[in-house]
Amino acid sequence: MEALRGGTPATTPIWLMRQAGRYLPGYRSLREHHDILDIVRDPELALEATLEPVTKFGIDAGIVFSDIMTPLLGLGVDFRIDPGVGPVVDPPLRTREGLARLGAFDAEASTGFVGETIRRFRERSATPILGFAASPFTLACYLVEGHHERDFPAMRALLAQSEDLATQLLHRLTSVTIDYLRMQERAGADALQLFDTWAGVLSPAQYHRLVLPGLTEIIRSLGKPVIYFSTSSAHLLPEMAELPAAGISIDWRVSLSRARGLLGDQKALQGNLDPTVLLCSQEVMERKALEVLQELPRGDGYIFNLGHGVLPETDPQRVKQLVDFVHRNGLRR
Ligand code: CP3
Repeated sequence: MEALRGGTPATTPIWLMRQAGRYLPGYRSLREHHDILDIVRDPELALEATLEPVTKFGIDAGIVFSDIMTPLLGLGVDFRIDPGVGPVVDPPLRTREGLARLGAFDAEASTGFVGETIRRFRERSATPILGFAASPFTLACYLVEGHHERDFPAMRALLAQSEDLATQLLHRLTSVTIDYLRMQERAGADALQLFDTWAGVLSPAQYHRLVLPGLTEIIRSLGKPVIYFSTSSAHLLPEMAELPAAGISIDWRVSLSRARGLLGDQKALQGNLDPTVLLCSQEVMERKALEVLQELPRGDGYIFNLGHGVLPETDPQRVKQLVDFVHRNGLRR
């Protein structure tokens, strides 16, 4: 929390995306008996998944166990999450009729279990807890495309052909996201991460005109600090500098020092170790982690993380080694 405010805590903080995922034995055994959405909907199971990496590795923040698709349950969208594929929306939303069919959203009534997981975590642990949501654009990518397709061609075609419809959809998702994140804030989330995983498919001009205003509205509607995450989006960093986010999370395709140069000193930075480095030897992993730590010589306003999620084939031992390494070497350089 101190790093997110731009300060320099006693040790460099670290948490990981997908830190409660399939590389963990506890989570894998949970998944043998329950579907991922069943875990999300059951605060006691979701709490167990959220706590596992926090207690096991001494990570500096928990992230509530859920998925970016969760708020769609409250809009009456028919979707599933297929192992190895990701979210599937069938049929996809590509027409005005489809948009009109989205139901009224009541965050507490339809997704209150996410808040309840956060509340239970707060009672059980002193570690900060992150709430999260997808950005409207990234959620729209899954809604319009129906599933992950390289560079989301149906979404981009909709923007070109029917910008009006695409814009209405983004507006609708913006208000859903505000209600959904406010609910997590009320439940006790210390900070909130906005996952804009697919923002990088947009040009800087599209991003500035179609996406930035909604993101700004979301961030301004919240009282807690927001971390904005995206991937393959280094070309958008000058636009991201305009976001009122407390922190920006970057992937491994751009260096922390370059990002800081483009974003200025007012925003905290998060990232950006390549997740494949955790598939290497401990020695290689530690060398690469040190390179990341050395990118920002003063180490202020910085949260160590990966550039994207922990890969399922990662050895949990490497995660433990990484957390210990960052805590030992973060500020002593
Ligand atoms: O530990 C955490 O980070 C918290 C939980 C979390 C999950 N999904 C659980 C999950 C978070 C923060 C997410 C966000 C999410 N989900 C994003 C944004 C971040 C990113 O990675 O880009 C996206 C794009 C999704 C959509 C999604 N859900 C994908 C692409 C997948 C993977 C499908 C697969 O099997 O390859 C999921 C499923 C999912 N969400 C899993 C987990 C732990 C794994 C699948 C399972 O348990 O069956």
